[in-house]
Amino acid sequence: MLKEKIEKIKEEALASIQEVATLAELNDLKIKFLGRKSEFTEILKGLKDLSGDERKIVGQLGNSVKAEIESLLVQKEKELKEKSFDFTSEKIDVTIPAKKLKRGHMHPLSKIQYEIEDIFTSMGFEIADGPQVELEKYNFDYLNVPKDHPARDMQDTFWLKNEEEKEKTLMRTQTSAVQVRYMEKHKPPFRIIIPGRIFRNEATDSTHEHTFHQFEALFVGDDINVGNFKFIAQEFFSKFFKKDVQVRLRPSYFPFTEPSFEFDISCTVCGGSGCSACKNAGWLEIGGAGMVNQAVFEAAGYERNQYQGFAWGFGIERLAMMKYKINDIRLFHSGDLRFIKQF
Ligand code: FA5
Repeated sequence: MLKEKIEKIKEEALASIQEVATLAELNDLKIKFLGRKSEFTEILKGLKDLSGDERKIVGQLGNSVKAEIESLLVQKEKELKEKSFDFTSEKIDVTIPAKKLKRGHMHPLSKIQYEIEDIFTSMGFEIADGPQVELEKYNFDYLNVPKDHPARDMQDTFWLKNEEEKEKTLMRTQTSAVQVRYMEKHKPPFRIIIPGRIFRNEATDSTHEHTFHQFEALFVGDDINVGNFKFIAQEFFSKFFKKDVQVRLRPSYFPFTEPSFEFDISCTVCGGSGCSACKNAGWLEIGGAGMVNQAVFEAAGYERNQYQGFAWGFGIERLAMMKYKINDIRLFHSGDLRFIKQF
């Protein structure tokens, strides 16, 4: 008796579920056939009053029919949902303001380096490069700084321990180390700049770092002279600071140049009348320079007195400090985002 009732419910349920056309109708059927007050649930509730054998048979049938109806309901629901999905209602509103992305940007020193490179390439210079871990000979010997020469003490050096190698290695103390490397492979005339990182084993303060950057210029030909050098420097600084800048050469000493100069520019803050930035001098010291010593040409394999050229080495941090009025060189590598974000 109960068995037949269950079979009948099953047939009725399966037939009506097949015909259903909307999700709402499907939900009604779910309540009608499996809901708490449905005939089917009533039958299952009554199982406990049946005798052992009958309970088993009716119970098993009831469960399997329930599972069958449920799976059909699920399948039908999926079908109806797929059918009713309206693609035209899925729109993206491109006018909604986007979330602001935090973007990184170039470090001020990289920015300055690219600016310098742009100015020099516009004047026909090429950009050369060399290793930061350097052989002693390129950093010192070939630049006319023999081992026992006091000039070696002008730059405190980070030496590298390298017992297997015959040649001593160091962290280069100046971009001048690239001069002979380049000249070994190139014949004059040429004009290059060499921007790069250098290292000195010295105490730091507001104007001195142990790791900093220089850019070297090297201009070699048959009759290059100090006048060419002064003109190019003046052009560069005027473009770099976007104002008229005067340059001044003072006699100095570097083993790899003869004559050698200390290089000053008119103060970019006061224009030369004197202020706190230039300690009232009206001039700011920017780097070393000079006419290439013939001994350096010889080390590079050129014949003595065949060529003339000038070289200089300027500190990039010092230039950046002047351009942006930064009063402590240590800020560049401090990792302080409040500083970096200003550029
Ligand atoms: C040199 O390094 C020479 N190689 C420059 C040179 C090249 C002379 C070619 C002649 C021909 P000096 O040690 O003075 O020279 O350094 C040059 C510039 O690097 C300085 O004027 C300064 O701008 C910068 N500089 C030097 N030491 C430091 C330091 N500890 N921190 C930051 N900048 C420095």
